Amino acid sequence: VKWSDFERATIQDIFSKIDSGAVGAAALSRCLTVYPWTQRYFSKFGNLSSADAIASNPKVAAHGKVVMGGLEKAMKNLDDIKNAFKDLSVLHSEKLQVDPDNFKLLADCVTIVVAGQMGKAFTAEVHAALEKFLAVVVSSLRKQYY
Ligand code: HEM
Repeated sequence: VKWSDFERATIQDIFSKIDSGAVGAAALSRCLTVYPWTQRYFSKFGNLSSADAIASNPKVAAHGKVVMGGLEKAMKNLDDIKNAFKDLSVLHSEKLQVDPDNFKLLADCVTIVVAGQMGKAFTAEVHAALEKFLAVVVSSLRKQYY
C-alpha cells in the first residue's frame, strides 16, 4: 500500500483530533446495536439487551477503547499494517472465530462516529483517507483467515 503525504498527515491528524475512548465506545456500541448478530462474540460482556443497555455497558466502552488501541497501532505502522496485525488476525480467526465480514461493519461504525466528532473538518478528502486506512486495517485483519 502506498500512502501520499496528505493521507499520512490526515490519518495522524484524525487520531490527534478525536477523543479515542469516546469514539471506540460509541462505535462498538453502534455496531452491537445496528448489527445485533455481532453480539454473539461478546456474551461475557453481560447486559446487551437493548440499545440503552449496550450504550451504558462499561465492558462495551472498555473494549471500544481496546479496539481503538488496535487502530492506533495500525496508524503507527502505516507501512506494514499487515505485519503489525498478524497476531490480532490469528486471534480473531482461530481463537475468537469472528466472521471477518464483521470487520467492515465495525470499521463503518468508526467512520460514522469519527465524522460526527470532527464535524466540518471531516471533508471528502479526509473521509477518503480514513476509508483507505480502514480498508487496509480490515484486509489485514482478514489476512490470517483460511
Ligand atoms: C479482541 C481489535 C473487530 C471481536 C480484540 C483486541 C483488539 C481488537 C486490539 C484485543 C486483543 C488482545 O487482547 O490481545 C479489533 C479491531 C477491529 C476488531 C481493530 C476492527 C476494526 C472485531 C469485530 C468483532 C471482534 C468486528 C466481533 C464482531 C473481538 C472479541 C475480542 C476481541 C470477542 C475478545 C474480547 C475479550 O475477550 O475481551 N479486538 N477488533 N473484533 N475482538 Fe476485535
